[in-house]
Amino acid sequence: MLYIGVDLGTSAVKLLLMDGDGTIKNTVSRDYPLEFPQPGWSQQNPEDWKNAVLEGIPQLLEGFDAGQVAGIGAGGQMHGLVVLDSSGSVIRPAILWNDGRTAKEVAYLNETVGREKLSQYTANIAFAGFTAPKLLWMRENEPELFGKIAKIMLPKDYINYILTGVHCTDFSDASGMLLLDVKHRCWSKEMLELCGVTEEQMPQLFESYEPVGTLKPDIARQLGLSESVKVCAGAGDNAAAAVGTGTVGDGACNISLGTSGTIFISSKNFGVDPNNALHAFAHADGNYHLMGCMLSAASCNSWWQDKVIGTKDYKGEEAKILPEKLGRTHVYFLPYLMGERSPINDTNARGTFIGLTMDTSRADMLQAVLEGVAFAIRDSLEVARSLGIDIKRSNICGGGAKSALWKTIMANVLNIQLDIPASEQGPGMGGAMLAMVACGLYPTVEAACEKLVRTSETVMPDPELSALYETRYQQFRQLYPALKDLFAAMCAEG
Ligand code: XUL
Repeated sequence: MLYIGVDLGTSAVKLLLMDGDGTIKNTVSRDYPLEFPQPGWSQQNPEDWKNAVLEGIPQLLEGFDAGQVAGIGAGGQMHGLVVLDSSGSVIRPAILWNDGRTAKEVAYLNETVGREKLSQYTANIAFAGFTAPKLLWMRENEPELFGKIAKIMLPKDYINYILTGVHCTDFSDASGMLLLDVKHRCWSKEMLELCGVTEEQMPQLFESYEPVGTLKPDIARQLGLSESVKVCAGAGDNAAAAVGTGTVGDGACNISLGTSGTIFISSKNFGVDPNNALHAFAHADGNYHLMGCMLSAASCNSWWQDKVIGTKDYKGEEAKILPEKLGRTHVYFLPYLMGERSPINDTNARGTFIGLTMDTSRADMLQAVLEGVAFAIRDSLEVARSLGIDIKRSNICGGGAKSALWKTIMANVLNIQLDIPASEQGPGMGGAMLAMVACGLYPTVEAACEKLVRTSETVMPDPELSALYETRYQQFRQLYPALKDLFAAMCAEG
């Protein structure tokens, strides 16, 4: 049988067709636009996601026996607020995970309601990208539209809704709404009340690997698939990527270098970072995880290369960075192009180059960008280490993990071994694997990982280079505290 994995990302949807042994038969990618209507705001039209998926699946199936498709599973960009009216129409563009418009609502939740209460209700505190502050923002700024909300959901839930007609979500993605009691795996009555919404407006909760329904007849016809194809609840893209890289069970780690950068630590037990710098979320394998998320990772690289220096030749640019310069330059880059989430939680933070001299080259600046992202991931790793979590190795996935140089920098800045999975299809592969479990091919997500995930390459840190990077990191970590007040003042001026 065949399974379709959907990776509903921020720049594109990536679809993959996989057989039950994990062989990838085909992939298709379809881009869609991303709007930044004001500095720090980030929106997308759910109709664009829908069209990309509905047009992409028939393309994915060209040349294959569509009758063999048994299941579909999606991993989607997290936290985005998707709202539908009573006729099932989208009310406004989705407000995305990297949108920073809710500083006021975040301050209200964290300071007035209080971090302690939020953590007690949900296991987390408020961050600008989370869904609950966006509901408060809509209630305040778009009261008429807010009054029309019949259904609230997350991005990949909208796709599942289009495919099956079922209004549902899964625990991993729901964790990032700040509306779920993560520990008890149910909606938090207190949080729903605080946000002025009711349980009827919320999606039905499932484990990621549970089937939520089958294809609606008209959709099955449009896609050329059988009406008996099962759709599973799917997962947030980080939990799905973790499944796709075999990061399940206790104490496994995955780093994703996509538009965002995340460090994801799986756990069999529920646990909270007492400072709430790391998110405490449910995992797609039925367990839990801790996660740090930086808002701009591979997007810093594409910003620098596409937008600033105007090239698409990423490899050519990287080749200009001399190996002997690694860990030895004093040019630093703070990667806060969309503000920052973990661990500093500051929508005012801004991207910054520092330490430039007359001989600084374009290659030095690219090196600083790649290193700045690695240092910012290290900030979250340090939080995990401070909790006594001993991370010696990690899987790595995402667009940025295709760069050998970036992987070397990451392994040495973090001073850990990096395992590269044989398939680079993170969330899409995880989605297809969740569909396999939903269809009964594997009894558990862990069993599917055991059978399907292989490491193709390992990058070891080099003691000399790690020592150089240790010194660089200790300097890097002084930069944000020194600039924090200036960033706030700059943002206050508008
Ligand atoms: C995680 C997060 C991002 C998005 C990217 O908390 O906001 O990783 O899921 O798609």
